[in-house]
Amino acid sequence: MWGGRFAEGPDAIMEAINASIGFDQRLAAQDIAGSRAHAAMLAATGILTDKDAEAIKEGLLTVLSEIEDGTFRFSTALEDIHMNVEARLTELVGEPAKRLHTARSRNDQVATDFRLWVRDQYDAAGAALEALMKALLSQAEAGADWVMPGFTHLQTAQPVTWGHHMLAYVEMFSRDLSRLRDARARMNECPLGAAALAGTSFGIDREMTAEALGFARPCANSLDAVSDRDFALEFLSVASISAMHLSRLAEELVIWSSAQFRFVRLSDRWTTGSSIMPQKKNPDAAELLRAKIGRIFGAQVALMTVMKGLPLAYSKDMQEDKEQVFDAADNWMLSLAAMAGMVGDMEANGDALRAAAASGFSTATDLADWLVRALGLPFREAHHVTGALVAKAEAKGCDLPDLSLAEMQAEHGEITDEVFSVLGVDNSVASRTSYGGTAPTRVREQVAAWQERLA
Ligand code: ARG
Repeated sequence: MWGGRFAEGPDAIMEAINASIGFDQRLAAQDIAGSRAHAAMLAATGILTDKDAEAIKEGLLTVLSEIEDGTFRFSTALEDIHMNVEARLTELVGEPAKRLHTARSRNDQVATDFRLWVRDQYDAAGAALEALMKALLSQAEAGADWVMPGFTHLQTAQPVTWGHHMLAYVEMFSRDLSRLRDARARMNECPLGAAALAGTSFGIDREMTAEALGFARPCANSLDAVSDRDFALEFLSVASISAMHLSRLAEELVIWSSAQFRFVRLSDRWTTGSSIMPQKKNPDAAELLRAKIGRIFGAQVALMTVMKGLPLAYSKDMQEDKEQVFDAADNWMLSLAAMAGMVGDMEANGDALRAAAASGFSTATDLADWLVRALGLPFREAHHVTGALVAKAEAKGCDLPDLSLAEMQAEHGEITDEVFSVLGVDNSVASRTSYGGTAPTRVREQVAAWQERLA
């Protein structure tokens, strides 16, 4: 491709370190779409004849079908997907193919192809996030009034409902979706026509290529168009935050499915057995999903590091962007699908949830609130009286509702029988009707609102 300037071919090791075709062949469809748009534009602006553009188009379609049916022979000597496609096109159609590279550079091509690829990933991830949110909503709807312990510090805090806990994740994943849409809109500009870095003296129509490829507009600065990869970094950042959410839920599934918790039963489809311990059912999918986030975070740090010291415009360092993003995208997609599958299949154990919700003095706050409401105690004093009652129950080895009225009154003489009505977990959750609270009535409202938004 540049033989004019060179007397010798590259060293074999140079070829190995330089070539990206081993991984950037994943950009083949995008590369061909970009070339088609460029050729059509060159013809429309009179830079190419219609006849040449037509030959290029037909040739590119043949190249695409060869790649799709696996007969295309990728060559390391041709370095990357852009030159592999162009070289084959030249074999197929000859002279017109040699005119295709007018007013463009591989720098434009790689930036364009990669943006198109990342854009597709956003669309796939968006659909996967919606599927996961729907699986969580089904769980929330079924368990709008199943009581479970709510934790802080992983210590029993107050009873909550299963539906409320599921909806907390729906909120998180919906923000991932919204971040994804923001990022997609921001990156949807077309680098084609930057012509390596400075623009071109040919009368090209960048609006036309941008529109043909579904971009909102051409990138406004030719240097920026070819030299930034913030769109890839933002993708990794969106993926990292989403994977962090997936990892937290995965961690809960690991804990909840243990024999000590028994909050959920994961289906056989998402677990594995042990080769030695016959009783085992291990939550491997959840564990792997918790682990895969390391690669996604790692990809972001790696690419940040590649980019941070590069002078404008393109430097070959930037070729290291793709493997990081490909790997992160693959693992994010796999994790989203695995989580939707696990959540869709899992069965909550209502009895275990309820028993756990009632243990650990989970209604102590309800008792303190009652002392404020019924007896007019200042909250700090109510907190102190309740603390003493918890200590008393703990010493006796019983729960708060198991204390007698006399035992209660020993801490505060005005306590009446009525207090026992607030010590039950159902009453506790039913009373949390503030906006965003855990009461089943509130959960049902939220489920209905989400179902409508996702319909
Ligand atoms: N394979 C290169 C990459 O992935 C394409 C652009 C190469 N441009 C250049 N001037 N060497 O970044």
